[in-house]
Amino acid sequence: MGAKGLTRRAFLAASGGVAGMLAAAGTDGLLAQRAAAAEKEGVEVSPAEDLMREHGVLRRILLIYEEWMRRLRANQVSGAGSLAESAGIIRSFIEDYHEKLEEEHLFPRIRKVAGLTDLVDVLLRQHQAGRRLTALTLGICVPQALTSPASRGRLSDSLRQFIRMYRPHAAREDTVLFPAFHEMLQEEEYDALGEAFEDKENELFGENGFEHMVARVESIEKRLGIYDLARFTPSQ
Ligand SMILES: [Fe+2]
Ligand SMILES: [Fe+2]
Repeated sequence: MGAKGLTRRAFLAASGGVAGMLAAAGTDGLLAQRAAAAEKEGVEVSPAEDLMREHGVLRRILLIYEEWMRRLRANQVSGAGSLAESAGIIRSFIEDYHEKLEEEHLFPRIRKVAGLTDLVDVLLRQHQAGRRLTALTLGICVPQALTSPASRGRLSDSLRQFIRMYRPHAAREDTVLFPAFHEMLQEEEYDALGEAFEDKENELFGENGFEHMVARVESIEKRLGIYDLARFTPSQ
């Protein structure tokens, strides 16, 4: 990929002391090591990689939602703050930032590609449906509401529908939308959009916004006991 997509994140990583910031936030060793490497060498992040890393944050929250569905079935509703915080990250980082970038910069261009207009229509409708589900989730996941079986059922339905929609949604964007977007742009325009994405991220979340968001998700996973990756490996 060469110098494609060297964004402001690389400069921030190279100059901003990310490793120290993450260590101070109590983030685990691997992330701090990665940040330290970025500080030393600088990191190239293309626009598509940027969007796909944000999908990684989304997927980790889908795992948190699954854990909450399990807890709701078992009527374990203490600590609902972790669910509200997760839905809040979906609202601010995915819906009001990531999806806005897709809607403003990718969808209008991809609509002009033969054969992909229908895909854009579906993706846009799914963003709208996702926002409705997140509003519902945020409205119900308060401790008082969770004492009612009917509310727990509605919350569980909302989480299930969100997970069911966003797994194929993100997978289709990763494998069809983002490659088509990359292919149709000149290198200069592609790089310039990477810069624009970074500017927006810094404006909304401050420097190292992505790393902060990953650290918040990691902290929620630890509170729920689902952070240890090895627990997902089959025993045999
Ligand atoms: Fe999307
Ligand atoms: Fe997306």
